[in-house]
Amino acid sequence: AGGLDTSCILVWLKEQGYDVITYLADIGQDEDFEVARKKAEKLGAKKVYIEDLRKEFVQDFIWPAVQANAVYEDRYLLGTSIARPCIARRQVEIARKEGAEYISHGATGKGNDQIRFELSCYALYPEVKVIAPWRIPEFYNRFKGRIDLMEFAKKYDIPVPVTPKAPWSMDANLMHISYESGILENPKSHAPADLYLMTKSPKDSPDTSDELELEFQSGVPVKVTNTKDNTSKSSPLEIYSYLNEIGSKHGVGRIDIVENRFIGMKSRGIYETPGGTILLSAHLDIETFTMDKEVRRIKQGLSVRFSELVYNGFWYSPECDYVRHCIAKSQENVDGKVQLSVFKGQVYILGRESPKSLYNEDLVSMDVQGDYDPCDATGFIRINAVRKEDNRLCV
Ligand code: ARG
Ligand code: SIN
Repeated sequence: AGGLDTSCILVWLKEQGYDVITYLADIGQDEDFEVARKKAEKLGAKKVYIEDLRKEFVQDFIWPAVQANAVYEDRYLLGTSIARPCIARRQVEIARKEGAEYISHGATGKGNDQIRFELSCYALYPEVKVIAPWRIPEFYNRFKGRIDLMEFAKKYDIPVPVTPKAPWSMDANLMHISYESGILENPKSHAPADLYLMTKSPKDSPDTSDELELEFQSGVPVKVTNTKDNTSKSSPLEIYSYLNEIGSKHGVGRIDIVENRFIGMKSRGIYETPGGTILLSAHLDIETFTMDKEVRRIKQGLSVRFSELVYNGFWYSPECDYVRHCIAKSQENVDGKVQLSVFKGQVYILGRESPKSLYNEDLVSMDVQGDYDPCDATGFIRINAVRKEDNRLCV
């Protein structure tokens, strides 16, 4: 990413005798990519790749997550996790093209990211060898903390960040920003109000709502329209960015959780996923409207499996491939429009319509008989009661 750690890693790898090619993925984080390029060149990178992956990030990774209603441990929308296979895919392409024997990264030895990057790289480039400096004793014994890194940086003329470092670690992309470590490690301490960089606090958000209409085809958003000012977007990146803009403005998508890392420990994380949170509400709504009840039940289980696979770094695996195909199949009829309002940190569904709707207004109506005989319900209830009447465990 071109921060202090990876800059020191670059120089350290050169010191170990490697030729280093750097690669930075633009997945929508707020960053000066030209500054990063100059920095890498100055530090002696043999070649510098800066790759705009925003479009493929949305289409190939975020959209399948939307179709899946992907949520890890009931709350986390996987903004970091889902970006890793996207970043790794291009990294491997570059490594292959350049004939690189090794791939290196700056993830720590305690987290999820090391697993995600490395499993992705091994799946796509099995012969590759990984150098993870934060797991190499010569590296981590030399750099015990930020002070050591800063000293090394000074010695080797590595530009150090001028702004004081936030007392936590952040990971940003167009889907979310995550915050963890540092002062957040105490699960009881509350996040300061100025931590959140992507969303307004609902306390300071506007007193009037925005109203959107989101159109889906096969479970994928294809158009968003603001019904108040007629703004309309229809390319994947524009749709997602616009939903972020509206979600941010109204303080949507903040969570503060303790989660289970794949490696075993629990960790405290704070996340803001404005656009993703709006999409989750809208997609859940159109899905239930258009999907068969029993298909939905099975798909709900697959959604949990998909989320765990993505979290644990198994995007490139036969089981995840299989689950993605099943989920895609379930979305064939998930077409239609959802109208919603975004206001004070919340998404309120207002209505929906679909050419594939399975909703039968006559069948459900309290005012019309429809193709339905109420007497049949008597038998249905009696049959369901058989087991209970005969079972002493049902008090
Ligand atoms: N805990 C989250 C995850 O595993 C976020 C990790 C964020 N990474 C970071 N470098 N701060 O997906
Ligand atoms: C890291 O370990 O580099 C960040 C945290 C994580 O991946 O879980």
